[in-house]
Amino acid sequence: MTTIVQAVSYGGPEVLQLTEVELAPPGTGEVQIDVRAAGVNPIDTKVYSGLMGADPSALPKRLGFEAAGVVTAVGPDALGTEGPVAVGDEVIAFRIDGAYADRVVVPAYAVIPKPAALGWPEAAGLMLTGATAVHLLTATAVEADDTVLIHGGSGGVGLMAIQLAVLRGARVIATASPRKHADLVALGVEPVAYGDGLLDRIQALAPDGIDVALDLIGTDEALDTSLSLVADRSRIATIANFGSGPAAGIKVLGGGPGADAGTEVRMAARPELARLAGTGELKVQVGSTFALTDVADAHRLLIAGGATGKIVLLP
Ligand SMILES: NC(=O)c1ccc[n+]([C@@H]2O[C@H](COP(=O)([O-])OP(=O)(O)OC[C@H]3O[C@@H](n4cnc5c(N)ncnc54)[C@H](OP(=O)(O)O)[C@@H]3O)[C@@H](O)[C@H]2O)c1
Repeated sequence: MTTIVQAVSYGGPEVLQLTEVELAPPGTGEVQIDVRAAGVNPIDTKVYSGLMGADPSALPKRLGFEAAGVVTAVGPDALGTEGPVAVGDEVIAFRIDGAYADRVVVPAYAVIPKPAALGWPEAAGLMLTGATAVHLLTATAVEADDTVLIHGGSGGVGLMAIQLAVLRGARVIATASPRKHADLVALGVEPVAYGDGLLDRIQALAPDGIDVALDLIGTDEALDTSLSLVADRSRIATIANFGSGPAAGIKVLGGGPGADAGTEVRMAARPELARLAGTGELKVQVGSTFALTDVADAHRLLIAGGATGKIVLLP
């Protein structure tokens, strides 16, 4: 039997339940993975909060889009992103459905090799934030010598976007709570506190202007500040403002209404993200790990905000 997490109704973390199910063996083009770690992301909470719809017929809902583990069975013609997949391979699976489980059967194309040097929690927390960050930098064409403003630099996507922008040679200014500023400085970033006076603080740091603004938060403050600082709206992108973002003529990215899902860019980003994480050029900061049985506590921590680093489940 396999243990899975599912949301049995819409609401808060109390709707998350563990269930035992019989897992069908992998079919054509599929692989079975013993999950060693599963990444927790804000989107997981939105799936069952009712924010993205509350259709009772869609329940129960499986959760989790990324996992890392060991391949334990392989169906016919199981071709991973980097070639055939074999039993015993250590892999990362993204983007998949139902990663919160001790075992999953997933399409082989979602699987890429896990770098040996990367720990299980780090591997499970790499891809969703990393691929989103690559999409943001690609959509706004960030390159060396750009000055990039990142709203929400201390979050999962923010830490990835910061590191990848710095690797491209850009100068990065990022908003975060003051208690997280030292961590950002260590990544080569100039941190600023968000809140009243943000525009003045950024203009004082960058009197010659900002080339690119990335909104990972979705507040009016992030949008208004970005519009004031960046003249070329094709170089402003948001992953969190699906309300006023589209009307402002900026790039709206992800799974929201009218947004560019960027599926190809995100899937294509995985091998390079794995390579960079394997060499240590890209760090995945894991803040907290929870047993699968404590999934509701993991989500309470995420929803409370203020946590540092990724939250990861260890089945
Ligand atoms: N569209 C897409 O494709 C896509 C993909 C991934 C994520 N997302 C969305 O993007 C958002 C961020 O995701 P994540 O994984 O980075 O979340 P996360 O790890 O939970 O980080 C959230 C960050 O928000 C910061 N924050 C809170 N209030 C803020 C404010 N008023 N101004 C600036 N920063 C503020 C916090 O920083 P401090 O602790 O420093 O205050 C925290 O580090 C979520 O809404 C998520 O659902 C969208």
